[in-house]
Amino acid sequence: YHLDMDAEETDKGPYPYYMLKEVDEQPNVMRKLASIYTEETGKDNLDPEMIDAIKNADRIHIVGAGTSYHAGLVGKKMFEKLTHIPTEVHVASEFAYDDPLLTKNPFFIFLSQSGETADSREVLVNVNARGFKSLTITNVANSTLSREANYTLLLHAGPEISVASTKAYTAQIAVEAILAKSVGVAKEQVIAEDFDVRQQLGLAATGMQAIIDEKDEIEKLAKEYFVNATRAFYIGRGIDQTVSLEAALKLKEISYVQAEGFASGELKHGTIALIEEGTPVVGIITQVKTAGLTRSNLQETLSRGANILTIVRSGLSKEDDTIVVPDIDEMITPLLSVIPAQLLAYYTSLNKGLDVDRPRNLAKSVTVE
Ligand code: G6P
Repeated sequence: YHLDMDAEETDKGPYPYYMLKEVDEQPNVMRKLASIYTEETGKDNLDPEMIDAIKNADRIHIVGAGTSYHAGLVGKKMFEKLTHIPTEVHVASEFAYDDPLLTKNPFFIFLSQSGETADSREVLVNVNARGFKSLTITNVANSTLSREANYTLLLHAGPEISVASTKAYTAQIAVEAILAKSVGVAKEQVIAEDFDVRQQLGLAATGMQAIIDEKDEIEKLAKEYFVNATRAFYIGRGIDQTVSLEAALKLKEISYVQAEGFASGELKHGTIALIEEGTPVVGIITQVKTAGLTRSNLQETLSRGANILTIVRSGLSKEDDTIVVPDIDEMITPLLSVIPAQLLAYYTSLNKGLDVDRPRNLAKSVTVE
């Protein structure tokens, strides 16, 4: 299929690769989404009919593939917290052929940068045949998933050219936050009323910029810890665990380092056997409740020889943490904790002399099942 893009948006400019350009664009995408979908007053600009349909649902199902699936995992946490509607997240290729048990009145949210992923479309065809309501959150207006769903919210991230998705992930999380807030407010949930999404997206934008400004430091870490590694681990709990999956995916897809994202408490049930002298293990620590536990899991890998690094939210940071990201509402910390992981993957690939934007065996948009 073909994308409509103007020349300036698709020009790499001074960047050696699109991926770095797209990482750099994320603060602006946050500001843009805040201004498009929210107003000064804190009131949103979303279709009230759509908000009503979600509000009345007894289950939310989020469907996506790859990075979009990972954005869905973050979305589940926000929807459940802000709307109190039970939310399930599905890998599209599994849902399509698994025929999961559904409740009476489910609402489906499709996450897809391209709007063309065949596995996701297969689910949507099925959802439409059964008469359920749906929303597609996508970067491409008039894409197949947008045309075939009842509602569409655009990511307004500009064309994403690099195969490894970056700005689409953070844009998806931002749009999910805006949407969850609106549905929560419609349901008169106090926690949603108190969540100032506009302000938080502003904080996300400045926080992202602060991390991006330190990219030379992150390149040094990539050279020291990952360029010569054969395998690596990202670990975390709760929302940090979902980011560990995305962080590992970035690293493996463009640098070919075998990387896994893990619930840090699961390590001891098998995976810790893989830790050898020098294996890099990155702990993602942004949540008050689980910070101490993840730190002690990191210590367990350290005593088996791992080279440990940390990506920590400022409020929880200690002296010897590796990368400290600014404070932000705990619900949307992935907007910041993922940025160092994107840059670590980028610089690992770059310093291995690989084609960052076009990794082997991968396609930007997968239109076969
Ligand atoms: C491909 C891309 C990934 C993307 C996934 C889902 O595998 O390489 O970056 O996350 O498809 O694509 P979508 O367009 O549906 O978000």
